[in-house]
Amino acid sequence: MSEARRLNRAATIDIGFALELERRRSMELEEAYYDTILRLTRASAYKDRETGAHIQRVSHYARVLARHLGWSDDDQELVFRAAPMHDVGKIAIPDDLIRKAGSLDRGDRKVMESHTLIGASLLEGSNSRLLDMAREIALTHHEHWDGSGYPHKLTGEQIPISGRIVMLSDNYDALRSRRPYKRAFDHEATCRIMLDGDGRTLPSHFDPRLLEIFRAAHHEFDGIFEQFKDESQL
Ligand SMILES: [Fe+2]
Ligand SMILES: [Fe+2]
Repeated sequence: MSEARRLNRAATIDIGFALELERRRSMELEEAYYDTILRLTRASAYKDRETGAHIQRVSHYARVLARHLGWSDDDQELVFRAAPMHDVGKIAIPDDLIRKAGSLDRGDRKVMESHTLIGASLLEGSNSRLLDMAREIALTHHEHWDGSGYPHKLTGEQIPISGRIVMLSDNYDALRSRRPYKRAFDHEATCRIMLDGDGRTLPSHFDPRLLEIFRAAHHEFDGIFEQFKDESQL
């Protein structure tokens, strides 16, 4: 082998090694972000009535939707990891408001709704894809396709797809769960409410494409709900 070729080959190996090192470093960094995030999520779960099991289930439903949308394995994993942080902003909402049974007045509702903005501000400003998607989800997981959601009353594709995915997932789980203001519905009743509406939840709230996926894959949602039923904390 000529000297030039030998040097060239050595340089290629060096670059390959450096890239591999860089890839590993950034993976480690993403893992560290994920770890920190899970701890933050756990902290907010202490004050919220929503359980660790709810958070796990929402991640799994979100991955089902992403898979049916044809997302890559990496992107499915990303939404799976980002979804648990949707309500992290509740950490800043007063306890008595979070635990309040019955309907909230206008002022209380405004404060409650601010968990979306607070969550987004907690998660903004990093270079991490994970945190960036988590911020997007925290901000938009209560927006509705028809513009009737909050905080910005976005419509249709103005709402990031990650937010639309978690919104549908969170709604399915909320309907299946008992809340201070409602009983738990079974899977069939939940499907009926989401697909036909009940006055409070309307099909027009959901991205039509995601609702079609849900219509076809609803059994997977039921399976996840049954699998992660225990109410243990994260
Ligand atoms: Fe929320
Ligand atoms: Fe939730």
